[in-house]
Formats: sequence, structure tokens, C-alpha cells
Amino acid sequence: MGIYNEKFANFYDKGWNNFPVKVFSFFKNEIKNKNVCDVACGTGNFIKLAKKITKSICGIDASKDFIKYAQKVNPKINLRVINVENWKDKNKYDVVVCFYDSVNHFNDWERAFKNIYQSLKEDGKFIFDVNSVYGLKDWRNTFLNKINGGYIYERRSFVG
Ligand SMILES: C[S@@+](CC[C@H](N)C(=O)[O-])C[C@H]1O[C@@H](n2cnc3c(N)ncnc32)[C@H](O)[C@@H]1O
Repeated sequence: MGIYNEKFANFYDKGWNNFPVKVFSFFKNEIKNKNVCDVACGTGNFIKLAKKITKSICGIDASKDFIKYAQKVNPKINLRVINVENWKDKNKYDVVVCFYDSVNHFNDWERAFKNIYQSLKEDGKFIFDVNSVYGLKDWRNTFLNKINGGYIYERRSFVG
């Protein structure tokens, strides 16, 4: 699936593993002893921490290579290659999480959010973060351009 391929999985796992640690410490009381699903679980860094305190946890991700990587790290956890936009689950969860701007990757937010809603118990919670125009304005070396009523952002890693 696009950039989320085998080559990137190892690199991603080492370079982007700090955020799941932060969100885990922030939300651990919300997931303690709960049935949880991590949507867009990536290489499984959040699950690695969360599985120690949840009642149950599973994960889905659209990238088969990222799921393969996450499965090596979490061999006993149920991880599936699924695009959230086509997700139908027979289980109902207390909490669905979706971290690290993954929501920004979805093509059809309405379908994705409907599927997430349907996978939650009646009093279930969906916890997610999202890159917003407001937040991106504060990023260093980030440029926001308005295009066709939406925004595109460009990030420069090197400034000459
Ligand atoms: C920035 S990574 C975040 C991974 C993980 N949540 C973390 O905190 O490290 C974005 C992830 O979203 C997944 N993804 C993107 N679109 C998706 C979709 N429609 N359904 C499921 N996963 C998706 C990608 O494959 C990738 O693993």
C-alpha cells in the first residue's frame, strides 16, 4: 500500500516509535481492562505497550507489510490487513483508537467513521488524533497551500 511497504516498515518502526509511547501514557486509563481495536495500527508499537493492560486488543491496517511487521512484534495478537473504509467486524469494542495522523490518510472519511462507529459498543469511545490546518500552521518548515477548497501541505526537511 503506497509508501507503507516492506522497505519503509523497518525504518518507520525505528524512526516514528516515540509518538505511540506518548499517546499510551496519555490514554492508558481509557484502555485499561477494555476490549480495544487499534485501527491503522502500523508496525504495532501502540499494541506492544497496550496489550499489557487491555482486556483484549486487536489491530487492522491497510498495509500488508506493516501488518507483517506488527505481527512479528506481537505474535499472539489478532492483526488483519483491512482498509477501514471496508471494515465490518463481528466484534464490538469498548474503545477504538487510531493514532499518528492515520485519519488524514483515509480517502473516504464518512465510510471510515461509519465503520468505526458500527464496531463500537453503545457507550464505546473512538480516540484519534488528526493533522488540522490550525496545527500544521505551527509546524516548522511547513507550507500550507489552498487548493480546490481544501489544503495541501508541503514540508521541507532541509532549508537552504
Ligand atoms: C502514520 S502511520 C501510523 C501508524 C500507527 N498508528 C502508529 O501510531 O505508529 C499511518 C498508518 O495508517 C495506515 N492506513 C492508511 N490508510 C488506511 C486505511 N484506509 N485503512 C487502514 N489503515 C490505513 C497505513 O498503512 C499506516 O500504517
